[in-house]
Amino acid sequence: MSRPIRIALTKGRLEEKTVAMLESLGYDCSAVRNKGRKLILPIGDGSVECVLAKAADVVTYVENGVCDLGVVGKDTIMEMGGTYYEVLDLGFGRCRFALAGLAGQPFFGGYGTKRIASKYVNVATAYFEKKNMDVDVVKIEGSVELAPVLGLADAIVDIVETGTTLKENGLAVIEDIAQVSARLIVNVASMKLRREPIQALIDACERAVKAGGTV
Ligand code: PRP
Repeated sequence: MSRPIRIALTKGRLEEKTVAMLESLGYDCSAVRNKGRKLILPIGDGSVECVLAKAADVVTYVENGVCDLGVVGKDTIMEMGGTYYEVLDLGFGRCRFALAGLAGQPFFGGYGTKRIASKYVNVATAYFEKKNMDVDVVKIEGSVELAPVLGLADAIVDIVETGTTLKENGLAVIEDIAQVSARLIVNVASMKLRREPIQALIDACERAVKAGGTV
């Protein structure tokens, strides 16, 4: 017998929202809710199983076909690229990419190459290339807001959700870059070889999004 349909979920905030969405569709997710330290869990009757992974790894597993589907933020998709189908905007995990700097300090204009800190080096690079602006991008792994405050960078490209982290650290948005939300992605071969159950799952998720139950 072939293995169950495998869906990779981004651990943390998106995991919780995805599980709530699947439950709203009638899938029994009690194994995921009581997962302990397990990373592969059955959903419903076991014909679907979910894999809990970090965002970038969700893309890697789906791209390589060891998972058929994945739920991951558009931020990770924009940063990593790759070959897979992005089939649905799930509507939750909404935030945005923004350029931000020290509040009250002008960013554009002046001479000298600006230094930009970001966890999303590719997104930052593409954004400034589009502007025809030559910048140095420095990779920071987290709490990127520190970089301009400590004087390492002139600005950051980062995720802004409520804006609280920026505000509490004396930073402000200079420009919005792109809207971000959770997306459903599908492996290219799985979409052909296991079309029926995968399409059924996509359709069900689409119904949940339309019903507004996922936001
Ligand atoms: C994200 C992001 C910001 C913060 C924005 O960080 O990088 O730091 O959330 O949220 P807010 O606008 O609601 O304040 P995350 O919590 O994922 O941790 P990290 O900084 O370690 O990446």
